[in-house]
Amino acid sequence: MILDWKKLKRPILALAPMADMTDSAFCRTVMGVTESKKSIESMEITEPAILTHLTPLTPRLIVFREMVSSEAVVRENKKTINMTTINPVERPIVQQLFGSDPDVMAEAARKIEEEHYPEGFDINMGCPVYKIVHNFNGAALMNEPDRATEIVKKMKAAVSVPVSVKIRTGWSDSKQCLEFARVLENAGADMITVHGRTKIQGYSGKSDWDRIREVKQRVSIPVLANGDIHTAELTLKALEQTGCDGVSIARGALGNPWIFQQISEMLDGKTSTPVSWNKRVEVMKTHFAFHIEQYGERGVSTFRKHVSWYLRGIAGAKKYKEKLHIVKTVEEVNFILDEMKDKI
Ligand SMILES: Cc1cc2nc3c(=O)[nH]c(=O)nc-3n(C[C@H](O)[C@H](O)[C@H](O)COP(=O)(O)O)c2cc1C
Repeated sequence: MILDWKKLKRPILALAPMADMTDSAFCRTVMGVTESKKSIESMEITEPAILTHLTPLTPRLIVFREMVSSEAVVRENKKTINMTTINPVERPIVQQLFGSDPDVMAEAARKIEEEHYPEGFDINMGCPVYKIVHNFNGAALMNEPDRATEIVKKMKAAVSVPVSVKIRTGWSDSKQCLEFARVLENAGADMITVHGRTKIQGYSGKSDWDRIREVKQRVSIPVLANGDIHTAELTLKALEQTGCDGVSIARGALGNPWIFQQISEMLDGKTSTPVSWNKRVEVMKTHFAFHIEQYGERGVSTFRKHVSWYLRGIAGAKKYKEKLHIVKTVEEVNFILDEMKDKI
């Protein structure tokens, strides 16, 4: 079956792209995958998006991979290329790219499609950090509509899958997105995700869901609402307030990868099952195993950021968090995770 992610069941639920977070290991965890490495390795993917393993969430969930540099892809930087590898069970996947040169962006997308067949590409036009925006990347592209248009057009011409764009409401003026969304639609973008804050706001203030609604009303392509949607209840509220085709969730999924399952249950009118402590530990173990598969022994330290999210705000979990932040081997982490079972 070839999946067209534009035809995903509505409302769409999306795991938002997060640098250093939405890697293959985390995306698989979000998809609710529990397959062992062996069974995954035995799957082959020879044409775009042949989905052999549909998870119960697949009809409405898409995951956006963390951004990668188009320049690094074109230079064939090994670390960057590895970041674009797709495990069949994670599909449908949208790979996000950042960059400012339309030809380089197009070439990077072409190379990734040729190698890994993601179901779509996303262009980062929302990142506010200095090392990205100072070179016309990320949110700076909102001030460069001609360049943004060229990027969308050239990427669309270079690949066979849809191309979406993630934006903020503006650089400093939150109305900027209204015109800019039209620019993107006219350029051929297949979908837009709007984070309801300006670049200048960074993460301060609240995501402006009313402004996102205005964007949705101005374009005819699908729009995903993003920003401050951290629970199933907030998802329903955001969908109602924005009228969007779906939501994109970032921080709400960290240490909480089952959120999409819970939202999906709620949307289907079912009562969602709360996640028990032991289930949390079990998911951490699976995620850790995927993480180690991906990064090897150094994953023991890079997994700590996830530990902090999984154990955040849980009474009685502090001592485990402290232990998990100092141990150095895979065995020690697994030992502590096993020790945690039945304790809270
Ligand atoms: C750790 C982290 C990394 C992020 N990396 C990216 C990224 O690579 N690309 C992107 O477009 N947005 C990135 N974002 C922004 C999120 O996708 C999202 O727009 C923002 O966090 C607001 O959504 P939320 O309230 O659901 O977290 C990142 C956010 C966080 C917290």
